[in-house]
Amino acid sequence: MLPLAQSKLHFFSLLSSWGYPMSNSVISTVRTIPESAAPETLQPIIRAERIEKYYAQPSQNRIQVISPTDLSIVPGEILALLGPSGSGKSTMLRMLSGLSRPSAGQVYWHGRPIAESAINVSIVFQSFALFPWLTVQENVEAPLRARGLDADERRERSLRMLDTVGLDGFEAAYPKELSGGMRQRVGFARALVVEPEVLFMDEPFSALDVLTAENLRSELLELWSRKTMPTKAVFLVTHNIEEAVLLADRIIVLGRNPGHIRTDFRVQLAHPRDRKSEPFTQLVDYIYKVLTRPEVAPLAAPDQSTGKPPRDQRQMHYQMLPHARPGGVAGLLELLIDKGGKDDIYRLADDLAFEIDDLLPIVDAAQLLGFLIVEEGDAAITPSGTAFANSEILRQKELFRAAALEHVLLLRQIRRALETKNDHTVPEEFFLDMLDEQFSEDESLRQVETAVNWGRYAELFDFDAARRRFILPEEPEPAVPIEDAE
Ligand SMILES: Nc1ncnc2c1ncn2[C@@H]1O[C@H](COP(=O)(O)OP(=O)(O)OP(=O)(O)O)[C@@H](O)[C@H]1O
Ligand SMILES: [Mg+2]
Repeated sequence: MLPLAQSKLHFFSLLSSWGYPMSNSVISTVRTIPESAAPETLQPIIRAERIEKYYAQPSQNRIQVISPTDLSIVPGEILALLGPSGSGKSTMLRMLSGLSRPSAGQVYWHGRPIAESAINVSIVFQSFALFPWLTVQENVEAPLRARGLDADERRERSLRMLDTVGLDGFEAAYPKELSGGMRQRVGFARALVVEPEVLFMDEPFSALDVLTAENLRSELLELWSRKTMPTKAVFLVTHNIEEAVLLADRIIVLGRNPGHIRTDFRVQLAHPRDRKSEPFTQLVDYIYKVLTRPEVAPLAAPDQSTGKPPRDQRQMHYQMLPHARPGGVAGLLELLIDKGGKDDIYRLADDLAFEIDDLLPIVDAAQLLGFLIVEEGDAAITPSGTAFANSEILRQKELFRAAALEHVLLLRQIRRALETKNDHTVPEEFFLDMLDEQFSEDESLRQVETAVNWGRYAELFDFDAARRRFILPEEPEPAVPIEDAE
């Protein structure tokens, strides 16, 4: 076993001995453990299982930056990770690339824990971060030198790569003589010269002017689609929705507080992609909505060509119901009203003497129901949340019912199924089968348990635990639209 830190030591110590800030540089790592030569399949190259990141706080609380997340990087795809600032995109990139360890969960490289594997990845950062005292060619040779290649091979590989990225003739130039776009070309050459299996990029085009960025994007895409570069997968972090739709085969959108996957879908548009085409603009609109309306559960991405949602989308069909009780949601909203409608989540947890992990499901539930929004660590009550918190118990149930029907797909489906069936009962199994496609068996059971809890409270349905069947209550009252509450 070779510890992660040790395996990178050579190149990293080289960087630091040059007095270079590592976080701003192009980093490539390779480890020298022989791997069994596995045939190339669609097995993930990198697979993250329930990875989390949290930071300890002096006050014993911890800041959860990423909640438990599964994510795979498979060969042949450009995967774009979008999300608002602070949602944990860079944190995710660092964990997936082996640069930092998850606080919990595990990252696997070809099925083996990443810390024990011979990984071959490069990372390109937004700031080109070239060594100003080295020529273009010497910059590109730097990671090869760190890997111990001899002078001839370094020269041969770096010249070939400089040619590939269109820098033929600039070998002897210094970075300060180059435009931003050309500097980032050197950045790409330096990342690609080690022939990484996965190329990670963190906002690589965002420091460039619009035209240069566009140019580099299409050149990168061309290298990728012509298979000029040996890289098997690309993981691109970006703020730019159009960039993601232009380049990616698959897009994941993160939400924040803490970082979690809000939607994950395939882009099925053929290249070259036309920014003005209807499917393109529809996808951009869809992602924009997902990004700007964190309080609303994302719908499936729009159909792109087949008219059928791809498998990934079907897997993301259901929102994850946070395991919170309606009474807890009511309690939290009432406390928020006392605090003027808005407060920091960590302070709320302190005031309630709750662990943050116990409070977050309640915050999530209130958010899912549209009763509050979370912004930069603050929970702020919405008008419907205020109406709910200020109402009598019976009215609260009505408002909860309206919110649940509006926002929670599973509850809506159960209710609709019960209304449709002649005997007004449906077995639990029916919904478990659907949930099983997306969640583990245990989680599906917990989802149903939470749905039963919420449904009973809202008098949407009852549940016969002996027969494991949902039942429509006698004389159901019509749901009250939420607007009437205000
Ligand atoms: N050492 C740390 N201690 C506490 N919180 C941290 C630490 N490092 C990062 N964070 C927090 O983690 C969250 C995610 O940060 P990250 O840089 O991954 O976000 P991002 O999505 O890449 O943002 P941006 O788009 O601005 O680059 C942020 O809220 C940040 O403040
Ligand atoms: Mg970032």
